[in-house]
Amino acid sequence: MERIVIDGGFPLSGNITIGGAKNSAVALIPAALLADGISTIKNVPNITDRDALFEIVRLLNCKIEQNDKIIKIDTSNLENKLIPQQLSVKLRASYYFMGVLLSKYKHVEIYFPGGCNIGSRPIDLHLKGFKALGAKITKKKHKYILDAEELKGTTINLDFASVGATINIMFAATLAKGTTIIKNAAKEVELINIMDFLNKMGAKISGAGTDTITIEGVEKLHGTEIEVIPDRIEAGTYILMGALLGDNLTINGIIPDHNKALFAELDKMGVSYKLNTSSITLSKCENLKPTNIITQVYPGFPTDLNQPMGVLLTQANGVSTMEETIWENRIGHYPSLQKMGANIELKGNKATIIGKTELKGTEINATDLRAGAALIVAGLIAKGTTTIYDIDYILRGYENIINKLSNVGAKIKIEKI
Ligand code: UD1
Repeated sequence: MERIVIDGGFPLSGNITIGGAKNSAVALIPAALLADGISTIKNVPNITDRDALFEIVRLLNCKIEQNDKIIKIDTSNLENKLIPQQLSVKLRASYYFMGVLLSKYKHVEIYFPGGCNIGSRPIDLHLKGFKALGAKITKKKHKYILDAEELKGTTINLDFASVGATINIMFAATLAKGTTIIKNAAKEVELINIMDFLNKMGAKISGAGTDTITIEGVEKLHGTEIEVIPDRIEAGTYILMGALLGDNLTINGIIPDHNKALFAELDKMGVSYKLNTSSITLSKCENLKPTNIITQVYPGFPTDLNQPMGVLLTQANGVSTMEETIWENRIGHYPSLQKMGANIELKGNKATIIGKTELKGTEINATDLRAGAALIVAGLIAKGTTTIYDIDYILRGYENIINKLSNVGAKIKIEKI
């Protein structure tokens, strides 16, 4: 077991480079199994979710070659096997093997997926989509068995623009007969990265990034190459740190358009920054104004930045609100922030944050990935020493976070317990 220890209050200056998007990579890795042959994925982030997916890919008898951030997946000997519970529960994205294996073999056996505890996280929309394409779904204890004689394209109207369901249905429809249209599809930018990968393999998909995606089924896919887009949530987290502690902190390798909703809020709060084509430089803002934020699906304010943004709001002069609309339980960070001295009133999923309050270092626990990120932001600005436990959550999604922060002046380390 490990913990993160932070001595707060030190300015951050220099350069941080953003890695590949976790939410793209965790779909691109399973997607590689749709192709016959070798696919190369570049800029894969060094996170533990990646390693959990590698275990599943290897179990299915594929070869993985890794050279730093470039991975090659060879599916020549792919075998469709039961994905056991100890692997599927390691992460949410294990469910992408459902769409992929259903598409390729018309049969999947997989235990329920895991993931952060930020809500009940049903996968009914994924299953509804698979059913509409012709799959029969059997639930046995903690396992799903999916079978289809054939998958046939159809029109699927999602009740909610779920990221995971959109991607999974796209996978299942790629090798189906005929045309599938997904309406009310998720518009997150990661979807475009995934569509590009599939199209380079020979798929015929259009419309990713809009609310209607059309997939013309093809018979076969071949190996190809793709680069993971930059992680807009990792970028957002470091941008927030820059607004709180920056002394000319530059964050490189970003796509500014992907963080427009964050910039809109920073503008309202009076944060000044210098934006270039693929980098942003910012310094600590002394007089932050409060704001009211509601999380929304893309291009709205991302739910994954709710928690780190909450820390910035504790430093605004006045009353801010943060309302979560995507997940019913994205509140795990609030007790820790309160323990550190933040003045927060929570009613359901809406927090009223009254600033500005000084935060003090203490012992706290990460309850999920983005809550953990928020606690790091809080520890960096707090007076004294903050110790964060249950840091596995953080390492699932933020690559080399300790090194990236130490290199720009943060006093942060990982300790074995
Ligand atoms: C993805 C992201 C996650 C992000 C979320 C919303 C990955 C690996 N994770 O998660 O970081 O917070 O998008 O931007 O890409 N829902 C259902 N039934 C379903 C599927 C979803 O009711 O079948 C509900 C969920 O409970 C939740 C909402 O829809 O309330 C959003 O879920 P979804 O967009 O599917 O999130 P994920 O793909 O799991």
